Amino acid sequence: MPTRVLVTRRVAGSILARLDTSFDLDLHDSEEPLARDELLERASQAAGVLTMVSDRVDAELLDAAGGLRVVANYAVGFDNIDVPAATERGVVVSNTPDVLSQATAELTLSLILSLARRVTEGDRVLRTGTPWLWSPTWMIGAGLAGRTLGIVGLGRIGKEVARIAEAFDMEVIYTNRSGPAADVRYESVGLDELLARADVVSLHCPLTSETHHLIGAAELASMKADAILVNTARGPVVDEAALVHAVRDRQIGGAALDVFEREPELHPGLIELENVVLTPHLGSGTFETREAMGELCYQALTAVLVEGRCPPNALNPEVMA
Ligand code: GLV
Ligand code: GLV
Repeated sequence: MPTRVLVTRRVAGSILARLDTSFDLDLHDSEEPLARDELLERASQAAGVLTMVSDRVDAELLDAAGGLRVVANYAVGFDNIDVPAATERGVVVSNTPDVLSQATAELTLSLILSLARRVTEGDRVLRTGTPWLWSPTWMIGAGLAGRTLGIVGLGRIGKEVARIAEAFDMEVIYTNRSGPAADVRYESVGLDELLARADVVSLHCPLTSETHHLIGAAELASMKADAILVNTARGPVVDEAALVHAVRDRQIGGAALDVFEREPELHPGLIELENVVLTPHLGSGTFETREAMGELCYQALTAVLVEGRCPPNALNPEVMA
């Protein structure tokens, strides 16, 4: 009998046809996530699962899925997966690094530009039929040249953001939990100094117990009054209620967010603020990138289930050692 692989959501590109050829494909062919009980039930029949960030892979799921050997997460972030619990049960977990770094960095820059140059706000003025006339004093924004970009988490995505921001003549400073990076010439500072100096604070760290609410009321209060906060990482890194207060009270200049604390819900306060730009978790959303993410997932499933070897992007390669 062919090996069963569960894919928990409709995915873009050619990967589904190839999975269907190589495996007994159980596709949840929908834009909506599987309900928890159905996810558990269908995972219990599978040797491999291709998961989304909205699928929680924890001890309960892993225990329900006794035949499971590999979880290929269709994302670079894997805060939805209890990797140690998977390792204990001999289940390989993989993610999709590198292929989405540029796409996520491009979205980050587009959010910064939209907020700084009031693109979405201007769009709303026109769409609502508000009378307007070009005027020297109307809807003035901020340029990027000479401004300081503070990157929180200089990993693959953070470095890509820095590289593009340099083309806009921004000065890059960064903070890293693991200390200064050896291969960059940007200035490494502590989080406190970064928050005090940056005109744009952009988050690129993973969500862990240490980074949960890394940016809360105190951190927002220590930012410059015209600084903006950009989050294309994970919603819970920011205390969203504190952010609404900080923007509303003009403690900071604004915020641009692609991710939210309780996705897909938004804090209602965010929607009322003009100097907030919102996108619905589009970081990796280019066709090429989604195709490449599917390819990495396909390779991970095939490596473990067909070739019996460890996928290059395994998060717990010790399982196959
Ligand atoms: C998306 O959020 C990802 O982590 O790839
Ligand atoms: C994610 O790939 C990161 O390292 O930033």
